[in-house]
Amino acid sequence: MSASLDDVQASRDGYRVKTAIADIFPTRATQRTEKRTHFDMHDKILIIDLGSQVTQLIARRVREEGVYSEIVPFSGAQAAFAAMRPKGVILSGGPASVLDRDAPLPPPSIYESGVPVLGICYGEQAMAHQLGGKVEGGHHREFGRAEIELLRPCALTEGVWTVGQRYPVWMSHGDRVSVVPPGFEVVARAPNAPIAMIADEARKFYATQFHLEVAHTPQGAALIGNFVRRVAGCRGDWTMRAFRDEAIDRIRARVGHGKVICGLSGGVDSAVAAVLIHEAIGDQLTCVFVDHGLMRLGEAEQVVSLFKEHYNIPLIHVDASRKFVDALVGVADPESKRKTIGRLFIDVFEEEARGIGGATFLAQGTLYPDVIESVSVTGGPSVTIKSHHNVGGLPQRMNMQLVEPLRELFKDEVRALGRELGLPDVFVGRHPFPGPGLAIRCPGEITREKLDILRLADAVYIDEIRKAGLYDNVWQAFAVILPVKSVGVMGDYRTYEYVVGLRAVTSVDGMTADFFAFDMKFLAQVATRIINEVKGVNRVVYDITSKPPGTIEWE
Ligand code: XMP
Repeated sequence: MSASLDDVQASRDGYRVKTAIADIFPTRATQRTEKRTHFDMHDKILIIDLGSQVTQLIARRVREEGVYSEIVPFSGAQAAFAAMRPKGVILSGGPASVLDRDAPLPPPSIYESGVPVLGICYGEQAMAHQLGGKVEGGHHREFGRAEIELLRPCALTEGVWTVGQRYPVWMSHGDRVSVVPPGFEVVARAPNAPIAMIADEARKFYATQFHLEVAHTPQGAALIGNFVRRVAGCRGDWTMRAFRDEAIDRIRARVGHGKVICGLSGGVDSAVAAVLIHEAIGDQLTCVFVDHGLMRLGEAEQVVSLFKEHYNIPLIHVDASRKFVDALVGVADPESKRKTIGRLFIDVFEEEARGIGGATFLAQGTLYPDVIESVSVTGGPSVTIKSHHNVGGLPQRMNMQLVEPLRELFKDEVRALGRELGLPDVFVGRHPFPGPGLAIRCPGEITREKLDILRLADAVYIDEIRKAGLYDNVWQAFAVILPVKSVGVMGDYRTYEYVVGLRAVTSVDGMTADFFAFDMKFLAQVATRIINEVKGVNRVVYDITSKPPGTIEWE
């Protein structure tokens, strides 16, 4: 089930199919060596991604029911279905039209498999189109809140909605179903989508024009719960404890007697990955903390001493700051920054691996959103948001195989796993910090001067947040240094200095986020301190963009 780096780099599409599927769905051979994996032991839901921006929310909703789920692109769905043997399939929404020639569609064989299927939005249209109904395009675009009326009962709405009542839902569609496929009945209608929900109870096929997975459909999660538990009959036995035990088994089976080197960044992901792997294979693991010179003020020393204090895991501290910063000075393009950092990381790791007598595995705290955001549904570059350095930035020639025990988890699930593993709060409660560090908080060209200014400004900001008792209320907070200078006046002098941007967000898993509504007095206090204490800054601004449409980081 190993993903060789050649596989990773073969192509983006190849990456999805080979790495995602090979890693997520072990081959029969690996299943044999790993005895009973969670693939054997737990009920599973397969989510076929047809291109929606919110497909991951479906996975979350299913997992909230205690049921294991995986997202696969439609192109890999057939292989995934065979490997995974799910108890139910969910078709995501998507931006395409089934009327287009190359529209993404799920493999028709899933409808013959006897497994329940739930189609959401474009997923409903795909189902209708493939099963003999009709979809009409173009004239009835609808984005936003709508009200549907439940016309008849069905297993999906049981215990949640009552016939004859109206319920708020979230619509986001261009096309709509105009003729119901044979065997289906209309279950709910909306003013602009008379076929808002359809069901074929005999075959256990359900489909909704509205989005069930988003918070704006208040009972959507309960309907997904009904599909997963009542319709598909999943048991809901997927817990963090189960994940931990099974992950340990899988790591042992994968690594054997090999040596593993794990990059520690100080963030929660790599700390959890390291402790989990250490539980699995003990001293076969060596952690390496690479100071890439893009850490925050005093962070490198802090991480190393914290880890040494709490764990008896061999830890090598490499000061590679000059190497990284030399390579990055003058680089402006965000993707080049990430790729350069990825390349140098691997250089350093390989050197360290040779130093400890040849590690064959590189462990990383890659999370599920990293995997999904770094690749696209179609394999084309257009849907890729950004290549996170711990996925897309890996160079082709790396000699180690990857161990990524968290690649199926969302951030908050990693925190839950950290608690399950007994990690101290200083690790579990830390704000996320991106692998490429301050490089992506310095939009435009990187210079040593800008990095130094940013480090100080960020330290003041976080200090104020802690003093105000807000650190745990904020999901992530940081400063950025903008690539412009602005005119100011300080004392009797005109100044021409950098602008610092402050960002703070609330979020559950980093996939969507709202800006944090600080008190104005607090912001004014931070701005005053930064301007007084950080030479080179004469203006401070606060970022009030949510995600979407923004991202959390600026690059
Ligand atoms: P965005 O900016 O994508 O950030 O909304 C979502 C979360 O991911 C972190 N992030 C990264 N983490 N390598 C990482 O390890 C990266 O290249 C990277 N880019 C963003 C970001 O800090 C936030 O927590």
